[in-house]
Amino acid sequence: MPPVIQFRNKNFLRLDFEKNIGEDLLKSANWDFVPNEVNVFILEGVSMYLLEEEILSFIKNMCNFSKKAYFIIESAPLEALVNRHPSVHKVDDTIIFKWGTNNIKEFATKANVEFLESYKHSDFLKNRWPQNDDNNKLVQALKNNYRISLLRYEKGDFKL
Ligand SMILES: C[S@@+](CC[C@H](N)C(=O)[O-])C[C@H]1O[C@@H](n2cnc3c(N)ncnc32)[C@H](O)[C@@H]1O
Repeated sequence: MPPVIQFRNKNFLRLDFEKNIGEDLLKSANWDFVPNEVNVFILEGVSMYLLEEEILSFIKNMCNFSKKAYFIIESAPLEALVNRHPSVHKVDDTIIFKWGTNNIKEFATKANVEFLESYKHSDFLKNRWPQNDDNNKLVQALKNNYRISLLRYEKGDFKL
C-alpha cells in the first residue's frame, strides 16, 4: 500500500533491480506503473487477505503489462480460512483470511499462468511446526498446504 512503500523507500536501501511501487492493487485503474520488462512479483503475506477474484484480477494486469512475469506467491491452505493465527489476531481483530488453496496448480490454471514449482513452508521452517503431531489432521493439512510457489506468464503462451 502507498504509505508502507513510502516508509520502505525512505528507510531501506533498494537493490538496483528492485522497484518499490506504492499502489493499491485493488484500486489501480492505470497499470502503467508496471514496467514493460521481465518482472518478478513477490506476493508474500498478502494473498490470504484478499478474495480470489481480486488476486486473479491483479495477476492478469501484472501479466498484461509485463513482457514476461514470474510470480513467487505464498498461499495459505483452505483450512487456514477458519483457523486464525494468534499473531494476526493481535494486530487487528477484524483481519481474516479470505483466500486459500490446497491445489496451487489448479489456481495457476485459473490465473492463466504456468505452474513451475512449489515448496511447503514446513520443509524449510521445520522448527515452527509441531514435530510429534503426525496424527493431527489440521496440523497435517497446514503442513502440506502452506506453500511458496513459482508461476510464470509468457506472452503468447496463453490468451488473457
Ligand atoms: C504481511 S505484509 C507482507 C510484507 C511483504 N512480504 C514485504 O516484505 O514487505 C502485507 C503487505 O501487503 C500490502 N497490501 C495489502 N493490501 C494491499 C493492496 N490492496 N495493494 C497493495 N498492497 C497491499 C500491505 O501494505 C503490506 O505491506
